[in-house]
Amino acid sequence: MLSAPETLALLAARRAAHSLDRALYCDPGVFQLDLDHVFYREWLFALPAAALPRATSHATLQVGAYPVVVVRGTDGMVRAFHNVCRHRGQRLCATETGSSPKLVCPYHQWTYDLDGRLLFARDMQDGFDAAQYGLKKVHCVDLGGVIYICLAQVPPPVADLARTARAYLAPSGLADAKVAFTSTIVEKGNWKLVIENNRECYHCGGSHPSLCRTYSDNPKMTAMSGPDRANETILDHWARCEAADLPSRFVHHPAFQWRLARIPLLNNAESFTMSTRAAVARRMGRMPFDDAGSLLMYHYPNTWNHFLPDHAITFRILPVSPTETEVTTTWLVHKDAVEGVDYDLKTLTEVWLATNDEDRRVVEENQKGILSPAYEPGPYSILQEEGVIQFVDWYAGLMADRLAPRPALAAE
Ligand code: FES
Ligand SMILES: [Fe+2]
Repeated sequence: MLSAPETLALLAARRAAHSLDRALYCDPGVFQLDLDHVFYREWLFALPAAALPRATSHATLQVGAYPVVVVRGTDGMVRAFHNVCRHRGQRLCATETGSSPKLVCPYHQWTYDLDGRLLFARDMQDGFDAAQYGLKKVHCVDLGGVIYICLAQVPPPVADLARTARAYLAPSGLADAKVAFTSTIVEKGNWKLVIENNRECYHCGGSHPSLCRTYSDNPKMTAMSGPDRANETILDHWARCEAADLPSRFVHHPAFQWRLARIPLLNNAESFTMSTRAAVARRMGRMPFDDAGSLLMYHYPNTWNHFLPDHAITFRILPVSPTETEVTTTWLVHKDAVEGVDYDLKTLTEVWLATNDEDRRVVEENQKGILSPAYEPGPYSILQEEGVIQFVDWYAGLMADRLAPRPALAAE
């Protein structure tokens, strides 16, 4: 089990544009450092706001050791709390989703308001002050229909992302969306392998026959700084979309922790379906036409998303163990779209259910190979795996900064 200095030394010794040392993909000490310094400190995608469809809805998630509950209050506001009763620490909500006018602990029925205040604690003695025992808050922000949380005492700045995401997501009308389907799988691979796999389409041709009907695997379409400016398809697409008030151009965090971009699908495809046509008859929000392509949004360390004219798909990853990662996929459609009338669930979900399973397989086989003593870091393709190089650089830079020994305070 590696210590922080040993992990730091491995990061310092890594070869540029190469996959990481084995330990960084499987060691329990590194996994704990990833939790402590990445997942417990960065903003994380928790769920689409539509997963809390009404006042009193709640949903739970587990971030490393922290159970979290996200609640929509009677005032419509979404808040997040540590899902831990302030009496003797029972997990307050055990189910993934639910709806309840108060949060009642199942152990001794301490009862909390949806804003976290303790309202009722039976038979507590004189001098007990309920005001001291409200639920502990988790930072929470709605970025235009996607809810992010941060476990840090002082979260990193989020204003730039919030402004950009709200502008780009506005046409999708996520506040007027509903969840059509959710899938959760556990991939037997380190969380970084799951993200690495997402950040390239070098594997798409060999792995994703359904997705490749509609999604281009041309790396120039999604190059980190934006597609090749000589690519007229993209320029025409942006001009058409922006004339229809759809923000489309590449926009990103200075260190590429996040990026948004609207790219066309192949051959004017409308959606990620086997037929390439829209899966949902009713368009999202104020999306103006069926072939607006996909608005891509990723945010490290735990999400990527596709916002299409007829539906949206959010992906959330949460690390479970050094070699296990939970992947939750949620399909959103307009809230007035009716299953069986406006859409067929199989048509809507089959391409990404298959793609997720194909990705699960490559991630699991990648992890198995990396566990071999014969594994050694291999070179990424600069053309095809630029996004992976950039992710690994982001991760290594963040960890190096956070693990670096701080100068000792001067003795008094
Ligand atoms: S632990 Fe929650 S009421 Fe006792
Ligand atoms: Fe894939």
